[in-house]
Amino acid sequence: MSAEFDLVVRNAKVATASDTFMSDIGVAGGQIVQLGVKLSKGAREIDAEGRITTPGGIDAHCHFDQPIPPPARMADDFESGTRSAACGGTTTVIPFAAQQKGGSLRAAVDDYHRRANGRASIDYGFHLIVTDPTPEVVANELPALIAQGYSSFKIYMTYDDLKLDDGQILRLLALARSHGAMAMLHAENTECIAWLTENLLEAGLTAPRYHATSRPMLVEREATHRAISLAELVDVPVLIVHVSGREAVEQIQWARSRGLTVLSETCPQYLFLTADDLGIDDGYKGAKCVCSPPPRDAANQQVIWGALADGTFTVFSSDHAPFSFDDDLGKKPGGGEVAFPYIPNGIPGLETRLPLLYSEGVLTGRISLNRFVELTATNPAKTYGLHPRKGTIAIGSDADIVVWDEHRTPLTNSMLHHAVDYTPYEGWALDAWPAYTIARGDVVWDGRQFLGTPGRGWFLPRGLPTIVPRKPPGNGGK
Ligand code: URP
Ligand code: ZN
Ligand code: ZN
Repeated sequence: MSAEFDLVVRNAKVATASDTFMSDIGVAGGQIVQLGVKLSKGAREIDAEGRITTPGGIDAHCHFDQPIPPPARMADDFESGTRSAACGGTTTVIPFAAQQKGGSLRAAVDDYHRRANGRASIDYGFHLIVTDPTPEVVANELPALIAQGYSSFKIYMTYDDLKLDDGQILRLLALARSHGAMAMLHAENTECIAWLTENLLEAGLTAPRYHATSRPMLVEREATHRAISLAELVDVPVLIVHVSGREAVEQIQWARSRGLTVLSETCPQYLFLTADDLGIDDGYKGAKCVCSPPPRDAANQQVIWGALADGTFTVFSSDHAPFSFDDDLGKKPGGGEVAFPYIPNGIPGLETRLPLLYSEGVLTGRISLNRFVELTATNPAKTYGLHPRKGTIAIGSDADIVVWDEHRTPLTNSMLHHAVDYTPYEGWALDAWPAYTIARGDVVWDGRQFLGTPGRGWFLPRGLPTIVPRKPPGNGGK
């Protein structure tokens, strides 16, 4: 008699965003087809032995093989990036197809598909980055792309090659409203950063640690407030990405208290790193932790933990932006040490995102297991139009499943599967790591080795966000 299931995960302590219950999980054709006890035999069986079993993670903010101005280049492409994700319990990624200023958005998407094709080992969607909202982009390209499954786009308020002014942002927010897309905002005040940077360089203060000095909390607070105000004017939900500390959290809570739909994201670096990691002296090692906004201090870390627990944050993403340290395409662009404004921004974190939050959040009692699932899988799926296919353990959902192993593991970069030559968390003791990562029914990580294959990941055209009620288009949609 042939097996009823392709795979059965037995004796799992299943956690969803709302419930925790003992169940077997029956998988056929890449989907969860049955939940219950004493399921009949599967062609393959995994005994979870009562271990916590969660939906595969969705990393809704990561960067791979994103074209950026030379001489820097990202260390991870879709092959190494998705491999690393899978080994850390992530089964879906949403990196960014970035429009070049003067170029078309459609061309950026086509180019990004070429980069992903045949390389991704887990499923993926694309956010868009709009850097040049020309009349053609706003009237035709972007609406067509949203309808074709690219239902979210990022707006930068800083970085010369990416930033938009307030008028451009307003036009894009109006478009998000009329087409039901999710606008994600990188909120830092670019003029303040430029002025502070100029002053620091004039004073000869060029070490990596001055990156943090050039981007104090105030510049994030101001831009967060402005992003919220622009969204209020248009009457559209927005999501503020990579929130780093108290003053931005306060802005988001203030907006919510006014009844505005302002969603928000934070990342591991704001829980586990501080500005001291950029250097307490002028050494260059701190370049490893140069990212924007920069990590803050211990008090801000506590605020971020509180906002994870109390529901302020909607999603927890890695913002994996992979640049090797000893690399003339990475943190030493051109081959040597450079002044802080020229250090490529970003740190790796795709593979460690879930184990860090599970170890330091769930196992310490700072957040509940169900909240962990909500932040890392269910809310990203709802926010970016993938729910209920992704982000939960339910009949009919894709069989994206993580069985957790709780034991102490000292973290070293050599055990990670990205192409970056360091992890900011080297030497940390983690108390959990996936024993199995199952992606659409395939075991892609068995606790020891990566078992996925490049090309098995599917591109996911995404629907509209379901985390917020859809508003009828109004005047703001013009
Ligand atoms: O420093 C960062 N966060 N680099 C990645 C790009 C971005 O703004 O998310
Ligand atoms: Zn950003
Ligand atoms: Zn990013």
